[in-house]
Amino acid sequence: AAALLIGLGGAQAADKKLVVGFSQIGSESGWRAAETKTAKAEAEKRGIDLKISDAQQKQENQIKAVRSFVAQGVDAIFIAPVVATGWDSVLKEAKEAKIPVVLLDRQIETRDPGLYMTAVTSDTVLEGRVAGEWLAKQTGGTCNVVELQGTVGSSPAINRKKGFDEVVAKTPGMKIVRTQSGDFTRAKGKEVMESFIKAENGGKGICAVYAHNDDMAVGAIQAIKEAGLKPGKDILVVSIDGVPDIFKAMAEGEANATVELTPNMAGPAFDALVAFKKDGKAPPKWIQTESALFTPDTAKAEYERRKDAY
Ligand code: AHR
Repeated sequence: AAALLIGLGGAQAADKKLVVGFSQIGSESGWRAAETKTAKAEAEKRGIDLKISDAQQKQENQIKAVRSFVAQGVDAIFIAPVVATGWDSVLKEAKEAKIPVVLLDRQIETRDPGLYMTAVTSDTVLEGRVAGEWLAKQTGGTCNVVELQGTVGSSPAINRKKGFDEVVAKTPGMKIVRTQSGDFTRAKGKEVMESFIKAENGGKGICAVYAHNDDMAVGAIQAIKEAGLKPGKDILVVSIDGVPDIFKAMAEGEANATVELTPNMAGPAFDALVAFKKDGKAPPKWIQTESALFTPDTAKAEYERRKDAY
């Protein structure tokens, strides 16, 4: 496929199918599964041949997948990077092979931003800030929070913490009393929440749980119920993603707010890539998706709207 390109930004022969290799993290959350499903649908819509490699949460598998895509000579590589660091050498290999790289849903830390063409992500610091501001307002600024962090070293875990911490820093009555990673999974979210409840007087010292994604929040809701408390009332629940299960929980009064992250990261990435292949026009370095807050008032309708799309 590389032979079809005239230079890095060259024109793609009109009748040739674009071949894109996508190194996906795995399937740790409902959101992740929806992103994969959407990527397949968006590729099909555009007649793109999408090759997905599942890294099972391991960066080493992602690096192997990228190398294999380079060896196959794909037209572009999409990566959802499990952690933020450690990408430079493999991205250099892709650059030397003149294969453009697009980051999906997570950012990387690199001294050379020229190693990738663009990143399609939300502002993950903003997501943490939006969740924190909602909670500060809801509680009048007095709240002992337990925090379920995402995967250690991943950009959303780092940034969602940062954004929320900014609100805590300017709200004297708001405190994070416990914080730990639940690795973005439902099972880990439940397990860590159980330990928080035990450590905080059976949950009585906890005003709210802030989870870096909805799946961990759903796990936490289960733990709160098993401890004999009412999620959404005794302990407020705020999280990020906007998957159907959290809207169901909100409609049932067991969760209080979520910040939506669209699972359609691939659509804008394909559009940017097609334009680049057509006329060599490089997209902006960051294609930002929206971060809107949802609360129980619209939860039932949102659940109905999303339940089959995920
Ligand atoms: O990078 C996006 C995050 O990764 C989502 O919020 C989470 O559900 C997923 O695992």
